[in-house]
Amino acid sequence: MTVLKTIFAQREYSMIETDFIPDTLNLDKDHGIVQYTSPSNIALIKYWGKLENQIPANPSISFTLNACSTTTKIEYVKLGKKASDFSFDLYFEGLPKEEFKPKITTFFKRIITYMPFLLEYRLSIHTSNTFPHSSGIASSASGMSALALCLMEMERSFTKNMTDDYFDRKASFLSRLGSGSACRSINGPLVQWGKSNFIESSSDLYGIPFPYDVHPIFNNFHDTILLVDKGEKQVSSTVGHDLMHGHPFAANRFKQADDNLGKIIGVLESGNIKEFINIVESEALTLHAMMMTSNPYFILMKPNTLSIINAIWEFRETSKTHVCFTLDAGANVHVLYPENEKDKVFSFIKEKLVPFCQNGQYICDQIGQGAKKK
Ligand code: PMV
Repeated sequence: MTVLKTIFAQREYSMIETDFIPDTLNLDKDHGIVQYTSPSNIALIKYWGKLENQIPANPSISFTLNACSTTTKIEYVKLGKKASDFSFDLYFEGLPKEEFKPKITTFFKRIITYMPFLLEYRLSIHTSNTFPHSSGIASSASGMSALALCLMEMERSFTKNMTDDYFDRKASFLSRLGSGSACRSINGPLVQWGKSNFIESSSDLYGIPFPYDVHPIFNNFHDTILLVDKGEKQVSSTVGHDLMHGHPFAANRFKQADDNLGKIIGVLESGNIKEFINIVESEALTLHAMMMTSNPYFILMKPNTLSIINAIWEFRETSKTHVCFTLDAGANVHVLYPENEKDKVFSFIKEKLVPFCQNGQYICDQIGQGAKKK
């Protein structure tokens, strides 16, 4: 905690929390419908460790995905008078889903200062994912960002002249309060989040589109997600982030992530894919190393995760391609590769890696451009 607090004391923000409290809202509108599709994202530099309200302990950067997404629609109706509690129904894939409601209520409580109109409307929230709920793919990034975007669309209709830039920043800011990494799902194809001296406009409060040049080798990058273990997460991310408080390697890890951000900025610009692979794989293994060396300790990889990693290393060496892997806080493997090697790498994935997947399941995804209004 002390280490985190010291690190945080040295920070400055580009936009501050109060910038996201609306001045005047015109709530004459008595009903409406808003709808957004928002993607998942995969971190290249990992966010692991936070202070309250999803303030990250270190900066992170991610590829925005395309195929893995959540679509959320909100139908809203004005209440006769301001309520004292939130009033909403929740439908997941067409069916009422009571068990998701407490998470949404917690989210609404966190954002009420920034979205005071939430107590003036009754909401009917309809949400669905493109990927199976039990696939081990976290739905919190796409789910929370899709919800935040719908709420922002409501706010936009109550306000005059909201700029697109403010819309995106506040959507990211709200998403962060739902689930940290969700703030990296608004824009694409690369989003950076967390204050760093390497990026002047960076912020702990919201993600920003990566502001520097990116080499064309990273255009249309592929991410084939291998579903090694589709079970419930062994460690929730809340518990996982908490493990960094008092972790013996925390301070070094937070510095390493920032150093890696500095390095990857140059790598993304120059197209030095070998160095890219080195940073991305090291980040994935470090994330897992943090979990293995915390107390309590966890091993989130499965034997098949390791078999896949070894097969990727062997294939990369013999084929001279530039395929690499990254991991989330679980056993599934994200296989990353450039567009110009896709045929060769995908044949390898199908033949050698899919046999390690649970029921042979995998998802073909690619870098995406961010959320879309429907
Ligand atoms: O957004 P959360 O609290 O679920 O944390 C996600 C953390 C990782 O996915 C492991 C890393 C990251 O930066 O996305």
